[in-house]
Amino acid sequence: MSTVKPFLKWAGGKFRLLERILPELAGARRYVEPFAGSAAVYLNTDAPEAVVNDMNADLITLYRCIQTEGEAFMDYAASFFTSETNTETAFYELRARFNSASDPRERAALLLYLNKHAYNGLIRYNAKGGYNAPFGRYKAPQFPRAGMRCFLERTRQGRTVFTCRDFREVFAGVQAGDVVYCDPPYVPLSSTANFTSYAGNVFGPEDQEDLAALVRRAHSQGATVVLSNHDTPQTRALYAGARILTFDVQRFISCKGQARHRAPELLAVYRA
Ligand SMILES: C[S@@+](CC[C@H](N)C(=O)[O-])C[C@H]1O[C@@H](n2cnc3c(N)ncnc32)[C@H](O)[C@@H]1O
Repeated sequence: MSTVKPFLKWAGGKFRLLERILPELAGARRYVEPFAGSAAVYLNTDAPEAVVNDMNADLITLYRCIQTEGEAFMDYAASFFTSETNTETAFYELRARFNSASDPRERAALLLYLNKHAYNGLIRYNAKGGYNAPFGRYKAPQFPRAGMRCFLERTRQGRTVFTCRDFREVFAGVQAGDVVYCDPPYVPLSSTANFTSYAGNVFGPEDQEDLAALVRRAHSQGATVVLSNHDTPQTRALYAGARILTFDVQRFISCKGQARHRAPELLAVYRA
């Protein structure tokens, strides 16, 4: 299977799981992705209509700028990638500029700079919404023009609408015949692990339950819904009515004494 790599690094990115996920999404006329992140899955779908959503406003502005401006936006975003901006001092200056900027286009370009220059590409915000990941000390971060061009090309295959909403609002627009792929922040693997925080918001147990209820409702109304999460007793209970596929994934988990281990992954499939 030949796949397109996303141009952003993203926590929980699904690029390496595409071979397992894509076959379950085949045949969509309209594709809906409520938690798009780096859009690894959307990029590799071919539905003529798509709704790509994420609650991170800077991320969605970045996608919209590429879609509407193409190369002109890429040139602007590339202007932040120089040898002078790859220093600790410049990084913290640009991070502060991002945090005080109100122009959405400037924030979008700076988000890309931060994604490629911050430690591990972390897109991490504090409770007040301030971006706070540290400098990554990479030798020479590359401007991802080729990847952005692939993204632009995908947006031109039919009609894609980028939205920045809570997933509950996205589900309100799901129709019979849609194919929906959900990749929410995952349930914690243990009761002591923290809930995932992406854009300063915390995705807690009520969110997980609301999502499961909306998934079941969309399916009962004629949509195909596929969802990723950790494979735990909790997610098995939430998605008891689905066809469940499981596999092991090597992923980073901050866990005392063991930085990396295998976390079982679940794919819940509700085919219309
Ligand atoms: C696991 S990541 C998705 C990763 C993506 N599939 C990829 O391959 O890069 C989860 C995403 O959900 C978004 N998110 C968190 N809470 C949300 C909410 N309430 N509604 C919509 N999106 C949300 C986060 O900003 C984050 O990008």
